[in-house]
Amino acid sequence: MRLHVLDHPLIAHKLTVLRDKTTPSPVFRQLVEELVTLLAYEATREVRVEEKEIETPVAQTIGRKMADPRPLVVPILRAGLGMLEGMTRLVPTAEVGFLGMVRDHDTLEITTYANRLPDNLAGRQCFVLDPMLATGGTLVAAIEYLLDLGARDVTAVCLLAAPEGLERVAKDIGHRAEVTIVTAAVDERLDEHAYIVPGLGDAGDRLYGVVD
Ligand code: URA
Repeated sequence: MRLHVLDHPLIAHKLTVLRDKTTPSPVFRQLVEELVTLLAYEATREVRVEEKEIETPVAQTIGRKMADPRPLVVPILRAGLGMLEGMTRLVPTAEVGFLGMVRDHDTLEITTYANRLPDNLAGRQCFVLDPMLATGGTLVAAIEYLLDLGARDVTAVCLLAAPEGLERVAKDIGHRAEVTIVTAAVDERLDEHAYIVPGLGDAGDRLYGVVD
C-alpha cells in the first residue's frame, strides 16, 4: 500500500476550517469540494495518458490526452457523494460509479445497500472517494468489491485517515493489489465509537445534516 499525506498550507488551512465544529454545512460542503480538488491533483498523478498529434496556431506538435478506458470514480454513499464534484472538476471525463455502504454504529459491521458499477473493471484505474478512513472496514469492503470486478489499480481519496484504518487496509488488501491512499492528514487515533480523533466528526452529518 502506498500512502500520500499532502503537506500544503492551503490543504492545512481548509482542513482546519472543516475540523472546526462551528463551520456550517454550506461552508463545509464547499470546502470539501475545494480540498478534494487539491487531493485529486495528487491522486491522478499516474493517470494513464496517450500521445495525441495536434496543430497549434503556430506548428504541429505531439501532446497527451487521457487514455481509454477512462478512469472510474466511485464515491461511497452517503458521505463520499460530497467529494464527487471536487473530483470531477479536475477529471470531467471520468466515468462515475456508485457504492452505497453503511456501517452499523454498534457492531461496526458494513452492509452494501446499493451499487452501480460496470461489470468488468479489468484495466480500469479506479478512484474511491471515502472522506473518513477510520476503522478501514468500509474502505476494505469497497476495494474488495472493485477487486472482485477485476480492478487492480485502486486509489482511495480520503480527507482524513486514522492509523488503525491504514493498518487494516495494508493488512487486508496489501497482498491482493497495489492500493494507493491519498489524504490530507493522518490523525492520532480512533475513539471508543470509532470516530477519528481529533477528526472532524461525522462527515455525512456535517455535509448533509443528521438523518434518523
Ligand atoms: N466516519 C465519520 O464520518 N467520522 C469519523 O470520525 C469516523 C468515521
